[in-house]
Amino acid sequence: MTERKREFLRHVAQTSDAPMGLEVLDARGSWLRCADGRAYLDFIAGIGVSALGHGHPAVLGALEEQMRRHLHVMVYGEYVIDAQVRLARRLAELLPDGIERVYFTNSGAEAIEGALKAARKVTGRAGFAAFDGAYHGDTMAALALSGNPAFRAPFEPLPGPVLHLPYDDVGALGAIDSTIAAVVVEPVQAEGGVRIPGAQFIRALRERCDRVGAMLIFDEVLTGLGRTGRLFALEHFAVVPDIVVLAKALGGGLPLGAFCARDETLAALAHDPPLGHITTFGGHPLSCAAGLAALEVIVAERLAQRAQRMGRELLEGIRGFNAPEIAGVRGIGLLVGIEFHDARFAHRFVAETVANRVVINWTLNADRVVRLAPPLTLENSDLEFALDAMGRALASAREPVKDRV
Ligand SMILES: Cc1ncc(COP(=O)(O)O)c(C=O)c1O
Repeated sequence: MTERKREFLRHVAQTSDAPMGLEVLDARGSWLRCADGRAYLDFIAGIGVSALGHGHPAVLGALEEQMRRHLHVMVYGEYVIDAQVRLARRLAELLPDGIERVYFTNSGAEAIEGALKAARKVTGRAGFAAFDGAYHGDTMAALALSGNPAFRAPFEPLPGPVLHLPYDDVGALGAIDSTIAAVVVEPVQAEGGVRIPGAQFIRALRERCDRVGAMLIFDEVLTGLGRTGRLFALEHFAVVPDIVVLAKALGGGLPLGAFCARDETLAALAHDPPLGHITTFGGHPLSCAAGLAALEVIVAERLAQRAQRMGRELLEGIRGFNAPEIAGVRGIGLLVGIEFHDARFAHRFVAETVANRVVINWTLNADRVVRLAPPLTLENSDLEFALDAMGRALASAREPVKDRV
């Protein structure tokens, strides 16, 4: 073990007993160069952040330019920050008509919190609804929405009331009533095990919210900005929510979240009282400059379409394994889930794939499902490398434990 890794284990707060622990020296494109002398293919894009891979010149150039102009100059919302305004305007152009105002935050969970506050303020109601398997972040209210009771339990009581409903079940939507301020939904669940709902579910959800006067919040933190083969996953369903929440890829590799809505929705946070929802660092100039540069590349290079094509090839490749341990494979764009019959096998498969120098992981709320979400800029040769590594990992994960190195 290197000295740096010892210090990591000693001084950096740990999130589990089993961190992946790769010691990254530098990262370029889809590859991480590590202290063990090996290069690893980043097949999870830093959990959905690195849509353009690492060190993209457009992002680095925008960062250098912004660094020379200024870093932080004032808390959010007071000064006219060029990079912030330009990113907000561009998002407003690209989001569905009517969603033309953006509130920037530092992270996904923080954007969820802001969206919930806006919904309470606009509707005057207290309740929220969310779905089994959902993941919306780990701050208190975002956690209250979590669709995995094991993660909620140690931290209760959490803000609420929250009604938890089965995902992709039109019949359950009748429980959403006029006590509900907002329903929060991932248009495709990622941590829930890459669950892709039927269009009828998302449309019925929109109708139910309209009927009872609840706001509909789409959590596109992971699905947004090309990942699913469309710029926003909402396009697959032809449904316009009241609030769209973004983060992950939004900052081009820097921390940035946003909740985006109609004027009147976000105006509710600016009065009674004024300054009722503020942040120091939200929409940091560096994050916005990097995010805008990344977004322009995603749009100009049609990376959403590329994700569709590469995602299809990835799905075909995995289906070609014909492995009896695999219960199913599903995907939308470059968000692919491999569902195994057995969680222990899934975990062995992940470990063996990482040992073969391809970084993947399982999903938080579905331990039999392994998630693949590489950069949208993935090269064909990288795709082949990953398929080869996963094919060999399947074989070695099958070997009895004593025979494995
Ligand atoms: C769908 C979804 N929503 C919200 C979040 C929380 O984002 P953050 O970790 O930036 O707080 C995540 C993070 O993984 C996520 O996948």
